[in-house]
Amino acid sequence: MEINQKIIVVTGAGSGIGRALVEKFVAEGAKQVIAVDIDAANASETASANACLAMTADVACEADMIRVIDEVEAQVGPIDLFCSNAGLAAGPSEQSPDQEWQISWDVNVMAHVYAARHLVPRMIKRGGGYLLNTASAAGLLNQIGGAAYGVTKHAAVGFGEWLALTYGHQGIKVSLLCPQAVRTAMTAADPDQLGTEGLQAAAGDGMLEANVVADIVAQGLQQESFLILPHPEVTEYMQRKTADYDRWIKGMNRFHQSLAGG
Ligand SMILES: NC(=O)c1ccc[n+]([C@@H]2O[C@H](COP(=O)([O-])OP(=O)(O)OC[C@H]3O[C@@H](n4cnc5c(N)ncnc54)[C@H](O)[C@@H]3O)[C@@H](O)[C@H]2O)c1
Repeated sequence: MEINQKIIVVTGAGSGIGRALVEKFVAEGAKQVIAVDIDAANASETASANACLAMTADVACEADMIRVIDEVEAQVGPIDLFCSNAGLAAGPSEQSPDQEWQISWDVNVMAHVYAARHLVPRMIKRGGGYLLNTASAAGLLNQIGGAAYGVTKHAAVGFGEWLALTYGHQGIKVSLLCPQAVRTAMTAADPDQLGTEGLQAAAGDGMLEANVVADIVAQGLQQESFLILPHPEVTEYMQRKTADYDRWIKGMNRFHQSLAGG
């Protein structure tokens, strides 16, 4: 898909990867980009820096997602590309409170479901459309120190696969963005979110800048790749995992112990 002249919505656009995606899409000549975030001030900052539109919405709230889709389609035009990028890391273990598991599920998974629920029928009716869902390498390889994050990102990968295999022949294109560590507020500000071990584990192959990830996303969209892997090592790790699952689990346990100093 070419970005040029497309109408694009990006959630989680007030910061990090979402903000970098907005910058990239505007630079590539998108017709209009709508920067959506739960943080109104940050969404506005992204929009004013890039001469595009801002909307405030909680992606975990279906009514907010309906409002975003309805207003954009009525006032701007049909959405060509919807980037469900907002996400959070909470719930480090099975001991974490239910609220942390629930918000992880709502933001990291249900937001993708709501976008699809309200856009896929419209997109099919007009011949097609594109969904870019930000999951994580944690959705393919799990997350040391981040139980709810790893689990919900696996669910996001599962849902993206399901959308692609169900609607591909009706013009629905899906890409899943699955980076390892990227330098954003998520990896910088709150070590409690993934824990020190989690960050060390995710950053083992280096911390990418968000603008580099956005460039790789633009290439992935142009090639219409299902899986967009900014860290190429992830392919090899997936191969190792599927080649010998027991060995992979033991290796991950040893890796965790080495990070924990055990
Ligand atoms: N940074 C990394 O290392 C990394 C790695 C893999 C995947 N990811 C994923 O990339 C995506 C973007 O993360 P980031 O690193 O840019 O983090 P970030 O914290 O910089 O940005 C996330 C943005 O999402 C917004 N957001 C959170 N909950 C929301 C909600 N309910 N409704 C609307 N907006 C909401 C936040 O306000 C914030 O602006 C997330 O899905 C994250 O899981 C990040």
